[in-house]
Amino acid sequence: MAIKFEEVGHTYSLNTPFAFKALEGVNLEIEPHKITAIIGSTGSGKSTLIQHLNALLLPTAGKVTIEDKVIIANEKPKKLKALREKVGLVFQFSEAQLFEETIIKDVMFGPKNFGKTSEEAKELAKQALELVGIEEDYYEQSPLELSGGQKRRVAIAGVLAANPSILVLDEPTAGLDPQGTYQMLQLFKDLNKERQMTILLVTHDIDHVLRYADNVVVMDHGQMIYHDDKYAFFENTELLNKLELVVPKVISMREALIDKGLNLSKKIYTMDELVEAIAKEINHG
Ligand SMILES: Nc1ncnc2c1ncn2[C@@H]1O[C@H](COP(=O)(O)OP(=O)(O)OP(=O)(O)O)[C@@H](O)[C@H]1O
Ligand SMILES: [Mg+2]
Repeated sequence: MAIKFEEVGHTYSLNTPFAFKALEGVNLEIEPHKITAIIGSTGSGKSTLIQHLNALLLPTAGKVTIEDKVIIANEKPKKLKALREKVGLVFQFSEAQLFEETIIKDVMFGPKNFGKTSEEAKELAKQALELVGIEEDYYEQSPLELSGGQKRRVAIAGVLAANPSILVLDEPTAGLDPQGTYQMLQLFKDLNKERQMTILLVTHDIDHVLRYADNVVVMDHGQMIYHDDKYAFFENTELLNKLELVVPKVISMREALIDKGLNLSKKIYTMDELVEAIAKEINHG
């Protein structure tokens, strides 16, 4: 058990006239070493939910467990630094958080903050920058001189440099070009595979869910209304209709072809599999 929410609620501006219940009664257990996509319409509580994972927000009700750390509403949390070292959180529009005068210093900040020497931090920063595809020529430049997409990469490198075991990403590819988006998501997939990182990915892109996630959590008006593996999710037509989601192209094509009488497996989820199955049908038909 890596991450568990039990009856978690979060009310912003609690005990004021502006109190707003952004989360209520959330019970959720996240599978370790998997990629879990968190979806839901704007304002449904996705960002609020994930900020509990490194105690940036504290529950105003219930209990959050992250590996051996337990955070209980109305109790002072302990060992926050250790928790934040374990859980890397990449914010929505994370590039806005860059603040050091050079890129390398910015990425070194995390590891230094968690007790690494300057030398160790620099080595970790270099490795992380290499992972996100920022070349050495840039290291001494100001982050402010970079393009939006490059800034985002530096911000993500800053989180990766601390080598977290849980990576929480709040719409990490929003606004990136298609090539940048693909590279970034592939990097997260590789980190998940090679380092067994547990990844939570907040996204509005249903194609990304199909292609990169293992499990899906749906938030709605501050409540967790669905949690299952992605295949169960994509076969749940009733839920998809209710959520007014446009199903990924490969699934709608598969269904349309089945309607037209082709004998295709319901377990087809990629374009390659679909092409293969159609070719087989044609050749045997
Ligand atoms: N600091 C805050 N103070 C008061 N209310 C807030 C605060 N942050 C968020 N909210 C409210 O809490 C609700 C959930 O917000 P949250 O940012 O978690 O949604 P989200 O699902 O991440 O949305 P989006 O997809 O637009 O990023 C919204 O109604 C929002 O207006
Ligand atoms: Mg959000």
